[in-house]
Formats: sequence, C-alpha cells, structure tokens
Amino acid sequence: MMKPIFFGVVALMFAVVVMQPEQVSMQAADGATATDSEKWNYMHKTCSSKLHDQINMEFGASLFYLQYAAYFAQYKVNLPGFEKFFFNAASEEREHGIKLIEYALMRGVTPISDSFNLAANYAFEGEPAAVNGSVALAALGKALAKEQEVTKSIRELIKICEGDLNDYHLVDYLTGEFLEEQHQGQRELAGKISMLNKMLVTNPELGEYIFDQQNM
Ligand SMILES: [Fe+2]
Repeated sequence: MMKPIFFGVVALMFAVVVMQPEQVSMQAADGATATDSEKWNYMHKTCSSKLHDQINMEFGASLFYLQYAAYFAQYKVNLPGFEKFFFNAASEEREHGIKLIEYALMRGVTPISDSFNLAANYAFEGEPAAVNGSVALAALGKALAKEQEVTKSIRELIKICEGDLNDYHLVDYLTGEFLEEQHQGQRELAGKISMLNKMLVTNPELGEYIFDQQNM
C-alpha cells in the first residue's frame, strides 16, 4: 500500500524539479514580467523590438522617396513621371509603416515611446548625385539599394521571430505580404534601370524625357 504512494510522491517531486527551471528560463529569456492579462496575444520582446526597428525603417524609406519626389517636381527639373513614381513610393512606405504599427497593436504590443530616427526634411542638401549624367538613373539605383536594404531588414526580422521565439503568425504575415511586394518592387526597379541605361546612350536628354513619359 505504501509503495504506490511513495512512487507517486517521487514522481510528483520529479515533475516539479523538471518543470520549474523551464518556467523560470522562459521568463528570464523574455526579460519581461507580463501579467496574465497581458499575455493574451503575447509577442516576445526581442521580436517586438526588431519590429519597431522595421517600422522606423519604413517611415525612413518614405521620407527618402519624398526627397526624390520633391526634387523631380521642381519646375527646373520637371520630370512628372519620376515625380509621380516617387510620391507613390513614399505613400506606399508610409502605408507599410502604418500596417506594421496596426499589426503590433493587434498583437497587444504597447506603443513604443522611443523617438524615430528620421530625416527632418524632404529636400536634399545640395544637388543629388547623377549617374551617367542622369539624376533620374541615379534615383532609380538609390531606390533599388533602399529596397534591398528594407528586404534584408525584413529577412532579419523573420529570422529573429521564427525558431525559438515561435512567432510564425508574424513571420507568415511578413513573408506573404511584405516580402512578396519587396521582390516585385526590386524586379520593377531593376527593369527600369536597365531600360533607362539603354535610352541614355545616344541622346541622354531626349532618352530621359521619353523614359519619364512612357516608363514611369
Ligand atoms: Fe516598405
């Protein structure tokens, strides 16, 4: 009669010893002391912090494109196709930033009060650099580099939030919506750069003008 009780007590003690460090390490790894009511849709702090960096980057990209939009919209430059393209790009990046803020709030992340590190104005300091004599070509190259930077950052965010942090809902959202758009955007820019390069060969001014009218 005593034997089953003895083994029962030993098994219980074993379970307590095995389970306790796991609970402690989960809390320690998180570094947060979330109450039960805050855990309803919980996102790991490392993941939400990197998500905040991504939001910062999206708004940064928006201002970066706004600088080019304002440049091409000037009467002395007057390339309406490039102007429209970059104003649209700026709106899209702003929209991405808002979407990620909405996602974070849906997941119960408290709005972060850290200030964003954004450019303070929409004008370049001085004349933007040209490539092959064309600021338009340089702008497309800079836009492609910016998109590559954003894609890399999204991939890093995915890497942080998958695996041990097990945030596959965020990973799925980023992979399906954001990466899809990144890949398509990069392909579009690479195609435009290739085409504009060809059109600049014989008559750069005319080539840039026709490209602005027909390809932007
Ligand atoms: Fe974006």
